[in-house]
Amino acid sequence: MSRKSLNRSRRYLLLASHMPRRALNGMANSNAANALDSEFYQQAERFFPNQSGTALTYDDVTLATLYSEILPRDTQLDTKLAESLQLNIPVISSDMDTVTEGRMAIAMALNGGLGLIHYNMPERQQLQEVDRVKNHVHGLIQEPIKVSPDQFISDVLARIEEKRFAFSTFPVVDEQGRLLGLLSSSVVKPRYAKRKVSEALTPRDQVFTLTERKLGKNPIAAADKFFNDHPGIHKLLVVDDEDRLRGLFTMSDIERITQERAAQFKPARDAQFRLVCGAAVSATRNAFGELDRDRILTHVGGLVERGLDTVAVSTAHGHTKGVGETVRMLHDAFPKLPIIAGNVTSAAGVTFLADCGASIIKVGQGPGSICTTRVVAGVGIPQLTALYVCSRAAAEKKVTVLADGGITKSGDIVKALTLAHGVICGGMLAGCAEAPGEILEIGGKPYKQYRGMGSLAAMKAGSAARYGHATGDTARKVAAEGVEALKEVAGPLERTLATLIGGIQSGMGYLGAANLPELRKRARYIRVSPAGMKEAGAHDVVEVKTGN
Ligand code: XMP
Repeated sequence: MSRKSLNRSRRYLLLASHMPRRALNGMANSNAANALDSEFYQQAERFFPNQSGTALTYDDVTLATLYSEILPRDTQLDTKLAESLQLNIPVISSDMDTVTEGRMAIAMALNGGLGLIHYNMPERQQLQEVDRVKNHVHGLIQEPIKVSPDQFISDVLARIEEKRFAFSTFPVVDEQGRLLGLLSSSVVKPRYAKRKVSEALTPRDQVFTLTERKLGKNPIAAADKFFNDHPGIHKLLVVDDEDRLRGLFTMSDIERITQERAAQFKPARDAQFRLVCGAAVSATRNAFGELDRDRILTHVGGLVERGLDTVAVSTAHGHTKGVGETVRMLHDAFPKLPIIAGNVTSAAGVTFLADCGASIIKVGQGPGSICTTRVVAGVGIPQLTALYVCSRAAAEKKVTVLADGGITKSGDIVKALTLAHGVICGGMLAGCAEAPGEILEIGGKPYKQYRGMGSLAAMKAGSAARYGHATGDTARKVAAEGVEALKEVAGPLERTLATLIGGIQSGMGYLGAANLPELRKRARYIRVSPAGMKEAGAHDVVEVKTGN
């Protein structure tokens, strides 16, 4: 604390000690009390410049509470990232090959957020993943697990065991995908192991189906009506005009969705009521080392045709000629498409990308849980300072900022949202059921793989350009800037998000912020000592159960 502010605090205490009790009580709202608070708990414009010689991250600071009339459950979390891109929760799943493909993007959008589909896959596949999200019919399992008539029940049982399916009813289809019947759970039993599926199935003419055309504009209402009209039937198959299987509704899904309608955070949808979806691209170079303009434009054109809501030009160093040129080219070709670009940690980087046409800037160099950029390259800025610097430059340019990486708990998200319009999470979501990858069992515990896009394995799979290397670059040594790791299996995304959102809403309640713009306005910070940090977690107890 400066000498001046120390004197002011002393004056206040001296004053307070000589005051009559009534007057003292009245001071709760007085200017003197506010002045004392603001000496210690400073708004961003004062706090960060005062710390200008030191880079701070989430655990280095804490937020001060404020008078509040806001209950956590009443807070609004919607965020406008660009003119045509609004989310109902400020959380985005990272464009990493162990985090976001179609399944994760669908789940993120259904929960009000956004998934950025990674680019470590052939371009054709990325188009398909976006298609999956944009054509997702809520409640309809579009690719149900099927069995064929000449399999044995023992094969089906083995598959259930291997894949840990929690269900045992399967549609039976022929080689063309035409529906032959339904294998009901009542016959998927070891006692019938030696029988063929064709002997045990409920035949086609006894299976309830609906044609796609009959689903109409509100498939949930159509399925709901069907289940009402057919007591005891729990599965409804959807077929096309040629009787090919197109999907499956289950009554439990429909009931859950009907209940969710009353939920506070609605799915994030586009103007045509489709789920929102983002995808990442890199600044791909051709054999001559030049930006591969045709390839990038053709691919993004395909994504836009499929209804993509935002494209992310995702690299480790966004303040570069190649990224600038890519953003400019995409902005010229698709002026209505919001462009996310990064990553940067400087005001000049934000200004540069905004001038090139980006409307959302990714901030973060080295904070990620699997990142080693700071260790390997010696560069990068701890995240809270980077966010302050970038958010001020972004405000000047009227663009928004995403805090990318380093989020390990909901409190970090609250701190990030005091400066940014949304957060990008990798590690927090990589253990969820919707993240790509198989479950591995180690020492009896289930894990999922999580790797940095700058790890050697991920770069070999395609992300080398993100780190300024060529994919087939074997002639010289390429330093990895990320590690390969594991995350404990975390169950469905919905559960993880519910915990994070609960934390964000608590933080907003403590600050008296009804919505995210108010949170940004009201935040006041103070640094935390190492002892203060220790005090923040559970301590001096034997923990038997975590909060969640
Ligand atoms: P979290 O902390 O959520 O971070 O796991 C995810 C973010 O980290 C970035 N990322 C990397 N950064 N080397 C890096 O320096 C890497 O290999 C790497 N892979 C991902 C990325 O911004 C992501 O969203």
